[in-house]
Amino acid sequence: MRIDVVSIFPSYFDGLTLSLLGKARDSGILDVNVHDLRDWTSDRHRTVDDTPYGGGAGMVMKPEPWGLALDALASRVAAPADEPGRAEQRPTIVFPSPAGEVFRQATARELATRDHLIFGCGRYEGIDERVFEEAAGLGEVRLISLGDYVLNGGEVAVMAMIEAIGRLIPGVVGNPDSLVEESHEDGLLEYPSYTKPSLWRGREVPPILLSGNHGAIAAWRREQQLERTRRRRPDLLAD
Ligand code: ADE
Repeated sequence: MRIDVVSIFPSYFDGLTLSLLGKARDSGILDVNVHDLRDWTSDRHRTVDDTPYGGGAGMVMKPEPWGLALDALASRVAAPADEPGRAEQRPTIVFPSPAGEVFRQATARELATRDHLIFGCGRYEGIDERVFEEAAGLGEVRLISLGDYVLNGGEVAVMAMIEAIGRLIPGVVGNPDSLVEESHEDGLLEYPSYTKPSLWRGREVPPILLSGNHGAIAAWRREQQLERTRRRRPDLLAD
């Protein structure tokens, strides 16, 4: 998968060289490219924002640098050589926004199937609305929110999305079993985990986990998942 990120703070993404995603980049599974939006400006001050039409607080990101950035990045993944008749693949262009659809595990699963993702990180009061219309001519456009709160910009949201998507790509997480038994994979929260020692500060590991009875352990874990979800996230059960 190719991932392009456009931001005025590219160094936010330095963390993508670490851990499992860093290894996936080194091995070529993930091709992540971070770009500075200001590279697509042409004035001396490398201006990316201006005052909003109609008035109001804050600044809005100008459309011109975004238009050039998306034009340059949208055609980076060619159709596979064994499908010469197929048109060049269109990217999925994600704009993080508190006004977008909420990012869920299902969203991560869906986006993990794409060949090319472009993330456009807005700052200030957002990006000129015409950029989204223009982007729709280049690929599938998704406005996606990390949750119902406001961040200073899209960078932290995109870091979270890339991590959630990237770890679903085959080969990124060493043991694929660990992807199955996780919170949200089956619509429930994960069961509690324990490791050695079996007695720590007077606290015991639930004896069933030491019983060796795999059927009973699986049933206990399922009950724990349900109980936790009922208590902490009843909205998931309603879904
Ligand atoms: N930018 C600012 N707030 C955001 C949020 N909640 N999700 C995604 N992008 C954002």
